[in-house]
Amino acid sequence: MKRSNQPWWKEAVFYHIYVRSFSDSNGDGLGDLPGLISRLDYLKGGEDSLGIDALWLSPVYPSPDADFGYDIADYCNIDPRYGTMQDFDRLVESAHQRGIRILMDLVFNHTSDQHPWFLESRSTRNNPKRDWYIWHDPKRGRKPPNNWASIFGGGAWEFDPATSQYYLHMFVKQQPDLNWRNPDVPAALMDVVRFWIDRGVDGFRLDVFNMWYKHPDLPNNPPAFGIRPFDRQKHVNDMDQPEMFSALKSFRAILDSSREKTSVGELFGHDPDLAAAYCGKDKLHMVFNFEFSDCRFSPAAFRNAIQRWEASLGEDQWPCYVLSNHDLNRHITRYAKHPPNAVARITATLLLTLRGTPFIYYGEEIGLPDTRLERSQIVDPPGQRYWPLYKGRDSARCPLPWDSSPNGGFTSGQPWLPLYSNFQQHNVALQQSSPDSVFAFYRRMIQLRKEIPALTQGRYRSLNDSATAGMVYLRETETQQALIGLNFSNKRVYLNSSETLGPESWFQIISSCTDTSASIAAGGIYLNPYEAVVWVRER
Ligand code: NOJ
Repeated sequence: MKRSNQPWWKEAVFYHIYVRSFSDSNGDGLGDLPGLISRLDYLKGGEDSLGIDALWLSPVYPSPDADFGYDIADYCNIDPRYGTMQDFDRLVESAHQRGIRILMDLVFNHTSDQHPWFLESRSTRNNPKRDWYIWHDPKRGRKPPNNWASIFGGGAWEFDPATSQYYLHMFVKQQPDLNWRNPDVPAALMDVVRFWIDRGVDGFRLDVFNMWYKHPDLPNNPPAFGIRPFDRQKHVNDMDQPEMFSALKSFRAILDSSREKTSVGELFGHDPDLAAAYCGKDKLHMVFNFEFSDCRFSPAAFRNAIQRWEASLGEDQWPCYVLSNHDLNRHITRYAKHPPNAVARITATLLLTLRGTPFIYYGEEIGLPDTRLERSQIVDPPGQRYWPLYKGRDSARCPLPWDSSPNGGFTSGQPWLPLYSNFQQHNVALQQSSPDSVFAFYRRMIQLRKEIPALTQGRYRSLNDSATAGMVYLRETETQQALIGLNFSNKRVYLNSSETLGPESWFQIISSCTDTSASIAAGGIYLNPYEAVVWVRER
């Protein structure tokens, strides 16, 4: 096999761990770092392990949990509920021994209102840290300084009676926005980046990075069409300011001063041109493409999403795909009208055969759906605010069921959120012992992605842009081609190919059906209902 000269993060399969729900070692009902360390064999290096190469950890810093870790009270420490700094060091070391790299979550748009910086900032108007956050006098009639809205509902300004000014919070009011225009703020935050690099991490996921800078004059946002107040504005003044580029440049310089680091940014909205503008040699390595989360279970929707991002990113920039994450409904639930195991296999094949880095959300590898929750079980702030219109994000953040024992082996105590109700029949242990499980399929697909250079290095090329039942596409290098066929329908189909395929030359390497009769004809491919197949040939 030709050795690749691509950087590691283009070839790696990433796994996103919502630490709180992964594995609890001390019975307090919350996942923690020792729990995660005890499960590393599951991820790589053990018998029947999944085979991933890198982890993104949701925030594990001390936090009052107004937004479950995304309100950080100390950037350079570990929340005692998740463990200690020694546990963190042990995690990095044990992960590295297995060939797993670690990405930390950097939440730099805002801190917790309990962060010492904010406590100082709000103490008096002339405190040296006052200007580290965005404070402003009320408008006449004690009105907020402008019309900006919080993403989690309501206005984005909170009045502080002690100092008679408003502060800005684009999320809940316990998450005050930092003032990036004060040079001391980026300086302090870049020290945080250095701190974790010195601690051995391999990169970062950047939380809502395109909101770091706001327009210096804080003008109103113009109106837009939408349902929530936040969606009824064009976000031209509270995000995507030109200063972002120099901020990313400084950030990237720190990463590049050390070996083999990477970064992936969370960008609001589905604008591939904007994503492309934020990626590059002196910017981010990758920006998440969340467009799949809005795709119906339809080949056209996925094809368009891929082609739009391929066109904008071009050859020089690198896509990054996700099906599910901690802010979205799990895709098995999004596509609940279709058989869950079929959905899991088809989408896994798509995710793991595209040009771009795949991120797997914990539990996705066993086809885990959302947990159905009652109103009284909701803890997520936007869920509490908007129920039942929007039920929040808790149902996609429930504990991973490891086995059929009480609480699915996740905790010996009371889990912070309930497990999926059917966990006794649907868990990691059962799937690891079944060769036909979704887990076994993910494992095999991950292996194949590593064995077939076309799948990590090849160009993406659709061979049928109009089929309504399925997708046919190639990944190809100079020396190898992989042909991927996905049938999204419950009928056996024939999908045309825009190119003659030369049936004899292909070798089938995987099918999602145990009883496959998939085949290649000169002008197209035959697939069983809901079948996903990959063929390969050398050129
Ligand atoms: C995006 C994160 O993914 C989400 O979970 C969080 O609530 C907000 N940013 C605020 O940090």
